[in-house]
Amino acid sequence: MPPLPRWFAHRGGGALAPENTLAGIRLAALFGFTAVEFDVMLSASGTPVLIHDETLERTTNGSGLVCDTPDASLFALNAGKGQRIPRFSEAAALCRQYRLLANVEIKPAGGHERQTAEAVSRLAAELWLGAENQVLISSFSPEALEIARDLAPLIPRGLLFEQVPTDWPDVARRFRAQTLHCAARHLRDDVLAEAGAQGMPVLCYTVNAAETAESIFARGVSAAFTDRLDLFAGEAGAQAASSPPG
Ligand code: G3P
Ligand code: MG
Repeated sequence: MPPLPRWFAHRGGGALAPENTLAGIRLAALFGFTAVEFDVMLSASGTPVLIHDETLERTTNGSGLVCDTPDASLFALNAGKGQRIPRFSEAAALCRQYRLLANVEIKPAGGHERQTAEAVSRLAAELWLGAENQVLISSFSPEALEIARDLAPLIPRGLLFEQVPTDWPDVARRFRAQTLHCAARHLRDDVLAEAGAQGMPVLCYTVNAAETAESIFARGVSAAFTDRLDLFAGEAGAQAASSPPG
């Protein structure tokens, strides 16, 4: 896994654009970010799409469950500022166009872990064929990581926890994970020490304040996910200027 950029735009483009949209990803690139994180779930038609919640209400003008909504209805919705919910394939194409490192968070609706992970892993392997170092798969779902390991073995995997469990090194070995992701507010020094000893980068979400960023980076965190593109654009841009991706 190549060195990670310090900043990832969270949910596509953070809080300045509708989350998990192509406009958000474009905005992240415009602000000089070299990495973005987004969430991928399946529509009722089995299409991997970018969305965070299992339900449509918070981020779109629709209602009901994403996993019950077929593509024709899903893609007719407004996901904010006239944006529509993107297909995973469209987001991947945009990331490749802008040379953004993509952290694909597999976000299965409850009970759909296997089919979501299979579809997303297979498609990710196709979409980044020959460029596997420009994508990082993560998931809170152990089943999804296991499937990603088996179906997209060349794509690096990140363990994703809110609070890191004490047996995380075993989990990391089982999934052959290369990165460890957790909530910044639950970051523990014993986890950082063990990860450091194993040479495993630790990534923290969601870091929206300069003091938090300063503190976690001083403690040894490698990268952070932020909604505040405006606040950290300078750092992300400087990093882009000093080490162009790709
Ligand atoms: O992948 C890091 C972060 O996105 C996990 O939390 O709820 O924003 O997907 P969430
Ligand atoms: Mg996410």
